Amino acid sequence: MFLQRRNRILRQSPSIRSMVAETILTPNDFIVPLFIDEGAGVVQEISSMPGYFRRSLDGTVEEVKELWALGIRSVLLFVKSKDELKDNTGKEAWNPDGLMQRSIKAIKDAVPDVVVMTDVALDPYSSYGHDGIVENGEIVNDATVEALIRMSISHAAAGADWVAPSDMMDGRIGAIRQALEENGYTRTGIMAYSAKYASCFYGPFRDALDSAPGFGDKKTYQMDPANRLEAIKEALMDVEEGADIVMVKPALPYLDIIREVKESVHVPVSAYNISGEYAMIKAAAKMGWINEDKAIIETLTSIKRAGADLIATYFAKDAVRLLNR
Ligand code: PBG
Repeated sequence: MFLQRRNRILRQSPSIRSMVAETILTPNDFIVPLFIDEGAGVVQEISSMPGYFRRSLDGTVEEVKELWALGIRSVLLFVKSKDELKDNTGKEAWNPDGLMQRSIKAIKDAVPDVVVMTDVALDPYSSYGHDGIVENGEIVNDATVEALIRMSISHAAAGADWVAPSDMMDGRIGAIRQALEENGYTRTGIMAYSAKYASCFYGPFRDALDSAPGFGDKKTYQMDPANRLEAIKEALMDVEEGADIVMVKPALPYLDIIREVKESVHVPVSAYNISGEYAMIKAAAKMGWINEDKAIIETLTSIKRAGADLIATYFAKDAVRLLNR
């Protein structure tokens, strides 16, 4: 047998494979979502996210120090709001002494160079568990955008480096950008959840923050999983309106979208390897059906290969440990 091309030559040893690998994960690819709770000394494992925790601010600060030491550069903050602070306006979201605002300050004081990103959406503060204000059973757009502006400004005032609107209201990126400008926050970045789908895979996250919608679903604002062109439209509009990074979410069922968005915009693209994607790997590994460590690296590599410059993932710490082996 005579073969002109033997493709296996490039695969024959770990050395050559590492020399020709096209996609290399590094700790600075990762954005680590953190769930913050009131109180002190609280470390609560999220039942549908085994191995992932909701912590009070003291423990969160220690966690950020540890992440920083591992080479991770960015965290994305979510808070669990007390039930008595929830209402339909979501006004706790811009309380200057709220848990989010206190958390931003404490983390930036402890680790000044860490890039602090904050989730901007009303769901943790909404008595209805929706990302916006509800009127007559509808999630109203423009009034919600006004609330998101206040929320974003309060995060910037507390020292957030980036705001990350995850609500999918129309026009919010331009409105937030303008408000940041008007208030002198000219260094604050916007990471827009541009193509955020109405996904069943957010379930464990909603357990973590106790933020499941009280009625209906999020399909009038989050995108239909059937759609592709709409994702490009959303990303292009967000860039036009002033987004510095655009995100696709979830990641794994939407790798095609990550690739298409990456090829359509000239800004960094992030992808959110969400709670349900985490839970699936954890569950299968627990059953002994897959190898967890290998599944983590294969998953994150695939998301980066699809075109994500940054990956928000609950596996960041595990990945760094595995990459350092
Ligand atoms: C809220 C928000 C959600 C997630 C991030 N921000 C849930 C939702 O839209 O219902 C999901 C993250 C995850 O599942 O890991 N606006």
